[in-house]
Amino acid sequence: MNVLVIGSGGREHALCWALSASPLLDRLHCLPGNAGIAELASCVAIDPFDFASVARFCQTEAISLVVVGPEAPLVAGLADHLRDAGIRVFGPSAKAAMLEGSKGYMKDLCARHGIPTAAYGRFDDLARAEAFIEAHGAPIVIKADGLAAGKGVVVAESVDEAQAAAREMLGGRFGAAGASLVIEEYLDGEEVSFFALVDGRHALPLAAAQDHKRAFDGDQGPNTGGMGAYSPAPSLTPALEREVMERIVRPTVAAMLEEGAPFVGVLFAGLMLTADGPKLLEYNVRFGDPEAQVLTRRLRSDLLPAFIAACDGTLDRFDLRWSEETALCVVLAAQGYPEKPARGSEIRNLERAAAIEDVVIFHAGTRREGTRLIADGGRVLNVTATGRDAAEARARAYRAVDLVDWPGGFCRRDIGWRALAHG
Ligand code: AMP
Ligand code: GLY
Repeated sequence: MNVLVIGSGGREHALCWALSASPLLDRLHCLPGNAGIAELASCVAIDPFDFASVARFCQTEAISLVVVGPEAPLVAGLADHLRDAGIRVFGPSAKAAMLEGSKGYMKDLCARHGIPTAAYGRFDDLARAEAFIEAHGAPIVIKADGLAAGKGVVVAESVDEAQAAAREMLGGRFGAAGASLVIEEYLDGEEVSFFALVDGRHALPLAAAQDHKRAFDGDQGPNTGGMGAYSPAPSLTPALEREVMERIVRPTVAAMLEEGAPFVGVLFAGLMLTADGPKLLEYNVRFGDPEAQVLTRRLRSDLLPAFIAACDGTLDRFDLRWSEETALCVVLAAQGYPEKPARGSEIRNLERAAAIEDVVIFHAGTRREGTRLIADGGRVLNVTATGRDAAEARARAYRAVDLVDWPGGFCRRDIGWRALAHG
């Protein structure tokens, strides 16, 4: 069958890499893709928000499955448009994508269905927001309701900082996305990303991963999309994973069905492992980036029939096999990321780095100029490695990182520190 993947990051390269291994695959297309994806798929320059052109492309190329990588086209209704045109899509409807697109929607759903999450209030009025912050004190967390490119959350250490964040957001810093706020209780604990495939009725657990959100070593510096990840996450024990499935994921799937917005796709639960058990920080309606890069490295089963089963409502008869090994990913970003990444520098020696045992390098922001590989984004390369444990995977990944000749880039040197501390 012919498959179309939507997106251009390392997550989409990893998905294309996994799908390419499927004996069911005939032709793989990606829209718009990047230089690494172009080695596996035919890349097409169509704007994913031009729904009619995407649908036309699917009809012309006899696409049997569309896999949507990022959240923005889902929140905008791409999956609805394609489904209405009779095309099979792995990814939620706009209504179901509100789980990520509106934090207030997600919190209200949890409240209605008893799903464990931080206590909260919703505000569109500054005076009431300020009074709530004053009454609850710090630390406290201020969130813009809508999509704000990962910048819409402030974990405030003081009442003043919280008031300033509320003022800025309601004052229009994120436009319509910040016209409404969620203000919530600060949760203490270790953070874990957990993923499940969902077919509208059934949820099939995938695996857990841990991300590294800050730009610099020691979890310092500004928040980013993610500077590295590993899977499994040793802190999410099998017992905790069962608890997450029973108390958070399955009740959410049932709630969405009951409320007329069945969820189809991958549900990404951002969890805090608190002293009172796992609590939901946020939902994303897509794979994580760079979490997808480590999940695909550990998956031993064919991903393509799993996506089809999610679309066709047959996940209850499905199972996936996972490697017991650890997969770890180091993100190489352009100097200046996340504020102002410098574009256009050349990357050399990637082939030698990728030749190291059990290393696979995924591309994010890259393009070709003739035979030269050029950095063309914030996060540029994802060096992944597997090993018997986190220490071995990490040693391999950094051995490859050190062979990449790219003075225009940087990376964190401490990816996996939490897993190593677990022993
Ligand atoms: P989000 O965009 O919702 O994932 O939030 C970004 C980051 O803020 C999360 O990854 C957490 O590290 C932190 N965060 C969000 N909500 C809370 C909370 N209630 N308590 C503590 N930290 C939080
Ligand atoms: N790495 C976090 C995310 O994809 O949202």
